[in-house]
Amino acid sequence: MAHMPPELQRLRADHAPAVLAFELANRAYFAASISDRGDDYFDQFTERYDALLAEQEAGICAFYLLVAEDGSVLGRFNLFDIVEGQTADLGYRVAQHVAGHGVATATVEELCRLAATQHGLRTLRAATSHQNIASQKVLAKAGFTPVGPALPTDLGGKQGTWYQRDLGAAVLTPAEQEAAPQATDIACARTDP
Ligand SMILES: CC(C)(COP(=O)(O)OP(=O)(O)OC[C@H]1O[C@@H](n2cnc3c(N)ncnc32)[C@H](O)[C@@H]1OP(=O)(O)O)[C@@H](O)C(=O)NCCC(=O)NCCS
Repeated sequence: MAHMPPELQRLRADHAPAVLAFELANRAYFAASISDRGDDYFDQFTERYDALLAEQEAGICAFYLLVAEDGSVLGRFNLFDIVEGQTADLGYRVAQHVAGHGVATATVEELCRLAATQHGLRTLRAATSHQNIASQKVLAKAGFTPVGPALPTDLGGKQGTWYQRDLGAAVLTPAEQEAAPQATDIACARTDP
């Protein structure tokens, strides 16, 4: 049978077991560079997951998974704090066993295209700590540039930098620009899922 490449999918209810497995398997790896989610996250996983789906259902945030052929989650790529028609904040994490092969860079680039074409956004922002060299490299390779300091409140207690990328008319055909959603400001609860 032909080998299927990983696919970027919107977060769904039936992804929950695979998301939990991804978070558990990579907990220590993630905690080495970003804030640990804490035991509560895992104790209350189902309630929190359902709350995220409700936010997404309401059109407040957009959560994506990079899913392997076997259904396992290779990465999470999310748009937060969407100001519809304008901007959103980007967050991502990639499984340790596929790290270092360009997965984050390629998927951030894909999400930039989706942010423009599917979500009608013009810019994306992302904050990363000074210590997180891998994430800084991902952002630079995906066309983001530093725009100012990120505070410890943005980064779980660490100092860092905000990056921004203009999504630009280049990724939008005139028909797609026509179809982009109209602007209505929607604030998203800041809950990295
Ligand atoms: C950051 C993260 C998403 C990168 O995923 P990835 O798929 O490995 O990223 P890519 O392979 O596209 O690019 C990573 C780059 O960082 C480099 N890199 C990785 N670890 C590094 C380190 N400790 N020091 C210096 N460079 C490093 C890689 O060599 C690569 O650069 P290159 O293409 O020039 O060789 C992943 O490590 C992760 O999930 N980390 C934990 C969560 C996190 O930090 N999320 C971002 C929050 S802002």
